[in-house]
Amino acid sequence: MEEELKKIQDGFAADTAQGLDPQALRVKYLGRKGLVNDLFSRLAQMPAEDKAAWGRRLNELKNSLDQSLKEKMAAPAVFREALDLTLPGKGVIRGSSHVLSQVSRQICSIFEKLGFEVIEGPDIEDEWHNFTALNFPADHPSRDSFDTFFLDIPAVSVSAGRHLLRCHTSPNQIRVMEKNKPPMAVISPGRVYRPDEVDATHSFMFHQVEGFAVSRDINFSHLKGVLFHFAQGFFSAESRLRFRPHFFPFTEPSAEVDVSCFKCQNKRPEGKCSLCKGKGWIEILGCGMIHPNVLEFCGIDSAKFQGFAFGMGVDRIAMLKYGIDDIRLFTENDVRFLDQF
Ligand code: PHE
Repeated sequence: MEEELKKIQDGFAADTAQGLDPQALRVKYLGRKGLVNDLFSRLAQMPAEDKAAWGRRLNELKNSLDQSLKEKMAAPAVFREALDLTLPGKGVIRGSSHVLSQVSRQICSIFEKLGFEVIEGPDIEDEWHNFTALNFPADHPSRDSFDTFFLDIPAVSVSAGRHLLRCHTSPNQIRVMEKNKPPMAVISPGRVYRPDEVDATHSFMFHQVEGFAVSRDINFSHLKGVLFHFAQGFFSAESRLRFRPHFFPFTEPSAEVDVSCFKCQNKRPEGKCSLCKGKGWIEILGCGMIHPNVLEFCGIDSAKFQGFAFGMGVDRIAMLKYGIDDIRLFTENDVRFLDQF
């Protein structure tokens, strides 16, 4: 009996030290089927001469536990909880930069390390910078109101033309070349706008990074070298590039560039790679040597200077890199999506 009594006392001390709920402790120790009552029920089998003494001791125990539990119940709940220093904290919900900002910065920083300077341009452009100085003929289909968001803002001059939301970042080439003398190497991120039907891969607004360099002896090899360095730094150390002839009014010659699939490593497995669809290559950007007309429009002597330019879609590259299958996720602001980056 002595031993059991001690056990109950020690058990109660240990349980309270652990911070167990007083209500639960009351059930465990003082409840109808509790540990103290259990001892009381054994009194009946004890020798008559011991009964009174043990009865007294059990009552003392019961009263002291009861008293202690009453005190615990009386302590304010906050105080009781505050004592449990082992509970995890509530944590502060933090914001983070958007995945498109992150990818755009990653792209720019690779070029910055090569000596390119980051220069941003305005979202609202005029026809001169967005089209004319980029060697788009007056009847080019992109100038159609179905393909560009024209704005109802009065034109500054006849040559500047109508105002519009830029449909690519290439007007930044013009803005920088008009104001600066070569040599120059610039990387220019920003939003662009096109009145496209919105679906999983198209949006009326997306993001590009434009890059260009102008100097006396810039040639196509420099363009290839710079883009190759980018692909290996951004996608994979094993990345290779494929240049396909293409047409842009503002570059000549022009090319579209594919990177070797960084999922199947260009191996084109039997089951078909979900990223490159079994082609082995993924289109990532457009590029070329800056057209002599464009240099001249900006007051740069095309007999002395040459340049290269490239432009890539940030949304597309982010989707490829992270396996995102719907461009609308970028602007829906669902924290469950944004939190992952
Ligand atoms: N501006 C082109 C586009 O939006 C991309 C590009 C940039 C192509 C620079 C060549 C040189 O499709």
